[in-house]
Amino acid sequence: MKFLRANAPRLPLAEIEAFASEHYGLTGELTELYSERDQNLRLREKDGTAWVLKVASAEEDPGIIDCQLMTMRHIEQVDPALPVPRVRLGRDGAATRHITGPDGTQHVFYVLSFLEGEIAQRINIDHALHGRIGDMLARLGRVMRGLFHPAAGSRELLWDVRMLDRLLPHARLFGPGWQQDLVTRIGTHFIAEVRPKLSALRAQLIHGDVHEHNLVLGPDGNISGIIDFGDMFHGPLVIDIADALGDFLTDARTIEGTLRAMVGAYNRVTPLEEDEADLVFDLASARMILTPLINAFRAAQTPDEPNYMAGYGDAPLRVLEAFQQMGRDKVSDIVRDACELPRRAAARPSTENLIARRKRLMGSKLYVFYDPPLHMVKGEGVWLTAADGRRYLDCYNNVPHVGHCHPHVVATLTRQIRTLNTNTRYLGEQVLEYAERLTATMPGGLKVCAFVNSGSEANDIAFRMAKVFTRASGGITMDFAYHGITEASDAFSPSGNYANSVPPYMRTLMAPDGYRGKYRHGTNDMGALYAADADRAIASLQESGHGTAAFMIDSALMTNGVLEPVPGYVAGVAARVRAAGGLVIGDEVQSGFGRMGTFMWGHQHHGIIPDIVTIGKPAGNGHPIGVVVTRPEILEAFLAEYAFFSTFGGNNVSCAAGLAVLDVIEREGLIENSRVVGDHLKAGLKALMKKHNLIGDVRGTGLALGVELVTDRKTQAPAPDETRRLLNLLRDEGVLVGSEGILGNVIKIRPPIVFSKENADTAVAALDRALGKV
Ligand SMILES: Cc1ncc(COP(=O)(O)O)c(C=O)c1O
Repeated sequence: MKFLRANAPRLPLAEIEAFASEHYGLTGELTELYSERDQNLRLREKDGTAWVLKVASAEEDPGIIDCQLMTMRHIEQVDPALPVPRVRLGRDGAATRHITGPDGTQHVFYVLSFLEGEIAQRINIDHALHGRIGDMLARLGRVMRGLFHPAAGSRELLWDVRMLDRLLPHARLFGPGWQQDLVTRIGTHFIAEVRPKLSALRAQLIHGDVHEHNLVLGPDGNISGIIDFGDMFHGPLVIDIADALGDFLTDARTIEGTLRAMVGAYNRVTPLEEDEADLVFDLASARMILTPLINAFRAAQTPDEPNYMAGYGDAPLRVLEAFQQMGRDKVSDIVRDACELPRRAAARPSTENLIARRKRLMGSKLYVFYDPPLHMVKGEGVWLTAADGRRYLDCYNNVPHVGHCHPHVVATLTRQIRTLNTNTRYLGEQVLEYAERLTATMPGGLKVCAFVNSGSEANDIAFRMAKVFTRASGGITMDFAYHGITEASDAFSPSGNYANSVPPYMRTLMAPDGYRGKYRHGTNDMGALYAADADRAIASLQESGHGTAAFMIDSALMTNGVLEPVPGYVAGVAARVRAAGGLVIGDEVQSGFGRMGTFMWGHQHHGIIPDIVTIGKPAGNGHPIGVVVTRPEILEAFLAEYAFFSTFGGNNVSCAAGLAVLDVIEREGLIENSRVVGDHLKAGLKALMKKHNLIGDVRGTGLALGVELVTDRKTQAPAPDETRRLLNLLRDEGVLVGSEGILGNVIKIRPPIVFSKENADTAVAALDRALGKV
């Protein structure tokens, strides 16, 4: 078995001295250096410059030497700050030559620069240095990422943990006892369970041997050298950090700190993937048995040869024992923490624990979906994953508009947050590009923006703008509208309080509900009839002295039970409001960005151009963004009176997220998708009416759909209890929806607009089953 014996060449020094002088022009004082399998000498020239003369073991594959020298020369060119040896070329410009030993054996000879400093093995390594080691290792790996050498790809190296099966039989050399048991248990598990997973991981050329003997430290404690590229191989990237951990975990009391420091620093340069992070425990354990196995074998085979590991005794296996006692789960959680990855499911607190803590910290009244509430831990596209691992089809959430954690949004956001995040008191490009792209989608004079952080803030500012511009102070809203939580947006939100009340300066309009309202579908001029209700509100505001500053409308009429646009209704109210001197605020927090299909904005379905448009929720796909878009004269009037500035509004990261959302909507044709899939879903829901009498009405536009439930279609008696039960039954079916409407009997279906026809079919089938069980 190659290299299990430390069979370093032993050429006479005089011969090496003469060789170095003749072929490299190097003369100076020679000192022998320890090497496991080469003959290494330090040559110090008169001026103090030192070199390592290397006579390679005759058994060494020349391809591997070539690979090492290629790597060191590559590093010199690509990241010269990395402290690795430089390759000294011979007088003839070659990196290697052959030297003949006394027995006639040919050895490859080459010369590297000697890196001055102290070998780390002689130094007490603290966690700050562990961090520097992790960082250096990752930087080294990063620079080697694009390299390949056939010799490294086909290498059979016993220091490569993947070869553990060759060494494990030697566990018997420990003799019966805890060492043998420990090594055998870890090795057997590794070969059966861990090794098969490795071939699916990211692989590249890795150093594979950064340990305390190969690390040189300068007087300041900084790493001044990484030496010995002799154990390089092509293999899973994570082996590099796991091997280093295996070698640097030398004290049972500091395992956790060492893990956090080394992995954390490594991860900041080269983030580990979840699969990799979860294998660190087993890979490091395997490395920790590899060394004693090789050591034991050598000690048995060649007791007279020098063995640098011999002095350690049982200590490394004792540390390994402590590491094993911490266990795979705990270590994986420490590694995941260090990598800023979510913890494993089993490590998460229970639902009961979360509820109790939440009540203690956030008030006793739980305003949550479902009983018991769902604890979500991951989102991807139209899917949400709960802490117990169950996946749910998300038919409810409109904030992750282009899909949960859309890769383009995540990447853009991450790139920007790594670069800069500051406020609009500095000039910036993202905010202007976002304003340009957003206003380009708006009709009429809607060409200027004010940036805030939420729909509520946008509506609040919009109302303040309207009050300044109109010099009136009254507002008009729908009778069960919701527009936010701030003082002004809450005033427009009768559904936001349990009494459904509004302040004295507000008036509410009856909802244009063609299913159960005052005027029903089929009535001539239904829109105009409902719109006439605005006359009452306007006159009342006039009478109270408030006057009409603004009418605010959610184009999807979501809280009113997802009412479909009634032709002429919003236009009729808008005309009346404007005639009274007021402005129209189009709240696009729910209805915008293609939610209703066909058009980008909800107000386009009503055939109006608002004076002010407000934007929130989906704008950043989950990142908080609020925007007020209006005409220049309205904004200027506001700015003339108020020093408007929002600390986070318009920051670089939010705007990058907003731009990414616009990119995705365009690139993936999502407005059209919303229309096509919305129609398909609506048809599927309507078809269920034939089978289930509980459904009184199916309505909505695009992917904003409502299903109204009644216990009797004739009397239209609402079915709020059945609605609540249905929500839970659908949850059990793995489908998430919400409920809406003043009577609490409308199922709200409002998925991310990347929803597909197949998703729609899944939802309809689940609803069919759930309706059968209500
Ligand atoms: C139509 C509408 N406007 C405004 C808001 C308030 O937005 P935010 O919760 O981001 O403040 C909401 C929130 O549900 C909304 O539905």
